Amino acid sequence: MNIVLLGAPGAGKGTQAQKLVEEFGLAHISTGDLLRAAVKVQSELGLQAKAYMDAGKLVPDQLVINLVKERLEADDAQSGFILDGFPRNTAQAVTLDSELAAMERNLDAALLVDVKPDVIVKRLSSRRTCRSCGYTAPAGVDVCPRCGGEMYQRDDDKPETIQKRLDVYQTQTAPLIEYYRGHSILKEVDGDRPVDEVYADVRALLTK
Ligand code: AP5
Repeated sequence: MNIVLLGAPGAGKGTQAQKLVEEFGLAHISTGDLLRAAVKVQSELGLQAKAYMDAGKLVPDQLVINLVKERLEADDAQSGFILDGFPRNTAQAVTLDSELAAMERNLDAALLVDVKPDVIVKRLSSRRTCRSCGYTAPAGVDVCPRCGGEMYQRDDDKPETIQKRLDVYQTQTAPLIEYYRGHSILKEVDGDRPVDEVYADVRALLTK
């Protein structure tokens, strides 16, 4: 199963991806996680990406495309993958199609996790993320329940940056909904319900 997850920042893409990984053993390719890891170790890529991320803007396409190409070629992605946070604009989507075609692979589904902006702002303002493993939980959880790492608030989860990210989503990423509808692989789920209810629909949509 090869899947693209679509949805606004904070819609729950990472949350649903974790559950799909646990059940189906797919490779989870999150460009946000890959970029945050690069920032953490202060690699050349991380140094270039940080200012864009802190401002809620998209990192330049070529930096992200190179990261994704490398991950798609890795052994663990050969039996199926979930792309979470990529593609983010039409140029990335077209590049992904041609990279997959060159690998004689294709996408089975583009799954839209649909959540309204007011719910998003509340979710992201109260999200805390583990510095070590990326696990997310609501504010109030100070120690990661998965690995014991420190929970912190992402720089881009501050209110002014959340609004910028939502604007970027509307102008640059939301057009991909029609792109994938046109490719007849779009599936949609209402993400404004408890996590397990959302996942039950995700599972049903992807396995029927
Ligand atoms: P990225 O890390 O991809 O951030 P995002 O798309 O903004 O997504 P999030 O991780 O914020 O949200 P999510 O949908 O995964 O929600 P989550 O499951 O955590 O990107 C960060 C930055 O990196 C970008 O701004 C950009 O600069 C750069 N970047 C990344 N990819 C790029 C690309 N392709 N091109 C260029 N630049 C790129 O859930 C959110 C919260 O809600 C959590 O606390 C969770 O516990 C909670 N929650 C989840 N589901 C539910 C539910 N059903 N009910 C209640 N609470 C829920």
